[in-house]
Amino acid sequence: MNLSASTNTIEPAKRLRGSVRMPGDKSISHRYAMLAAIAEGPSEIHGFATSVDCRSTLDCLERLGVKIDRQGELVSIRGAGLAGLKPPREALDAGNSGSTMRMLAGILAGQSFRSILTGDASLSRRPMKRVIDPLTRMGARIQSAEGGLPPLQIEGGALVPIRYELPVASAQVKSAILLGGLFAEGETEVVEPRPTRDHTEIALEQMGAEIVRRGRAVAVRGRARLEGRKLRVPGDISSAAFFIVAALLVPESNLVVQNVGLNPTRTAMLDLLVPMGGRVKVLNVEMVNGELLGDLHVESSAVQGGEIRPEMVPGLIDELPVLAVLGTQSEQGLSFHGAAELRVKESDRIAAVAENLRRMGAEVQEYPDGLRVGGRQRLRGAEIETYGDHRIAMAFAVAGLVAEGTTLIRDSACVDVSFPNFFTTLAQATE
Ligand code: S3P
Repeated sequence: MNLSASTNTIEPAKRLRGSVRMPGDKSISHRYAMLAAIAEGPSEIHGFATSVDCRSTLDCLERLGVKIDRQGELVSIRGAGLAGLKPPREALDAGNSGSTMRMLAGILAGQSFRSILTGDASLSRRPMKRVIDPLTRMGARIQSAEGGLPPLQIEGGALVPIRYELPVASAQVKSAILLGGLFAEGETEVVEPRPTRDHTEIALEQMGAEIVRRGRAVAVRGRARLEGRKLRVPGDISSAAFFIVAALLVPESNLVVQNVGLNPTRTAMLDLLVPMGGRVKVLNVEMVNGELLGDLHVESSAVQGGEIRPEMVPGLIDELPVLAVLGTQSEQGLSFHGAAELRVKESDRIAAVAENLRRMGAEVQEYPDGLRVGGRQRLRGAEIETYGDHRIAMAFAVAGLVAEGTTLIRDSACVDVSFPNFFTTLAQATE
């Protein structure tokens, strides 16, 4: 992500009201695009994410010869089949998107050509050994910069199936291996230390692959024929998280967040907040392409706070920055451990949250793998350093709504990575 000089000003809010729509789910959009590209026949993806990250995925797929027609949130992809991708003439630029680089690495590992995956400055600091190791075991030859960092040069080839125990709970790594498994004869199995989002498995099944789940393990049968189809992407619950927290914290709020994905591997935030007193109701639930979705009705609430147990962390990984903000306004404060992964996201999110909460006058304890924030803290408007990280920018825009005085979000254009209309949507919902 190029850091631009954009700054956004947030004033304290009286309430949030009305209804808002979220962009299409980023995780699901990446997966639908990649699977549609290697399926047979055409796919139509409705509600495709407008995020820059998902654009990076489409750009990479086009460089691999896939025909894509983009009309806003409708993306049509002509499937090239498992063997139909073309050697790219240039490097594939994943931009700021870890999902693009890691998941695409799984597909590229199974190709008969060489490709190079690059990313922006933030992505170039993120660990890739976690995908290099299993994909190498499957038969790909992968070179990286020192320390297992991007760029990756992937020499694909005939892959063999493996059974792999993930050392870190990561849906991106699980997905990379399952996608590689499509190109291997036989069953490729991944065992997770803790459950992570399962959109890849669901999408693979929807498109005709055979998936077997055995407790913490999931397996795919390789060389399956994937079929292109019509798909609809639900709104992104990780984007909704900012509006949920804002509506819980700002007094007299009454907000509906429409059309949000409610896959149980993504709703840990609701599982956490509702028993703590958060008034969030789920309405109009339906199932589309194997994914649950519905509307969320959120009312301002006194939230108890407490401890987030380590086993909940993978299900909350993208929501932790805004939950830390919520913690400062809760009755007892909030703490969590077991989240060292947050240090290798788009920024070091533990450090970024601690730094910015301190700028706002809050007391925070930083641990190697977590944070503790005290409850009932007064926040002061401050100048926020986003470190070019979209979730830091949005979490602190929410903090600004409940702070005294004005908050300035520096480099606020980074929100485009997942939620291009974030500030206008927030302004529309806020009084
Ligand atoms: C994602 C998985 C998570 C998450 C990221 C998107 C995905 O990363 O933080 O924003 O789409 O699979 P990890 O699986 O690496 O923790």
